[in-house]
Amino acid sequence: MIRKLTLSVLAALAMTTGGAFAAGGEGGHIENIAFSFDGPFGTYDQAQLQRGLQVYTEVCSACHGLKYVPFRDLEALGYDAAQVRAYAARFDIFDPELEDTRPGLPTDHFPKSSLSNAPDLSMMAKARAGFHGPFGLGINQLFKGIGGPEYIVALLNGYTGEEKEQAGTVLYENHIFPGGLIAMSPPLSDELVEYADGHANDAHHLAVDVAAFLMWAAEPKMMARKHLGFMSVFFLGFLAVLLYLTNKRIWAPVKGRKQA
Ligand code: HEC
Repeated sequence: MIRKLTLSVLAALAMTTGGAFAAGGEGGHIENIAFSFDGPFGTYDQAQLQRGLQVYTEVCSACHGLKYVPFRDLEALGYDAAQVRAYAARFDIFDPELEDTRPGLPTDHFPKSSLSNAPDLSMMAKARAGFHGPFGLGINQLFKGIGGPEYIVALLNGYTGEEKEQAGTVLYENHIFPGGLIAMSPPLSDELVEYADGHANDAHHLAVDVAAFLMWAAEPKMMARKHLGFMSVFFLGFLAVLLYLTNKRIWAPVKGRKQA
């Protein structure tokens, strides 16, 4: 009986590990990246977000949309109202009242994906996980975070260079994408985007910057959340000390009494 049980537990474990490896593909290891927004006190790096926006605008927006992000939110990246207005005006937005397109306004959202099979990227950095931990339990996430931006960086640089044609569409081999074949052609290459601040623009840095920008897009209020979380924990700690001391004082006359 015991032997049977042990065997089935072992078999189940073997199966789950098999599944986890398959999900990451062959050698689909995702590196942890030290982002400025990691940890309880991490903050977004505005210069990096601006570079990421540039990569998104020049490269990714050709296919992908950001339909949940309003242009006016870009002020959080350090742009003033006039710059945001100018940026929004670069996009043609369909206005149902005019039944026509017009230049975008700060109150509009980024357009939807223009390529029907390219997913919207607004929530992507929080919709994907980079770290799964042993047996897919997700324990690593407690230490490294969920790893959405890391997944995006690894994905963008996970191409092997091989292509396959399946049912008339070309698929690109990518050892990070589940299944190993993705319909997105490798979007980044070294020096594809020229930064005004002269920051490194090899394919890896471009991917890191756009992943940071997508993290901001998915969670623009991350700093406020962390701040509130820290204040709550601090307050609860303080309250715990007060309650402990109050409790001591209330029961002091009873507890301090010597048994006759
Ligand atoms: C030529 C069009 C095109 C461009 C440019 C492009 N993508 Fe994609 N992307 C796609 C398509 C199509 C898919 C869906 C792939 C699939 O499901 O096989 C996709 C999927 C994705 C995914 C989702 C992968 C997943 O886990 O489901 C991410 C993340 C992504 N792209 C990020 C980017 C970023 C960041 C850029 C800019 C650096 C970019 N893409 C540029 C077409 C594009």
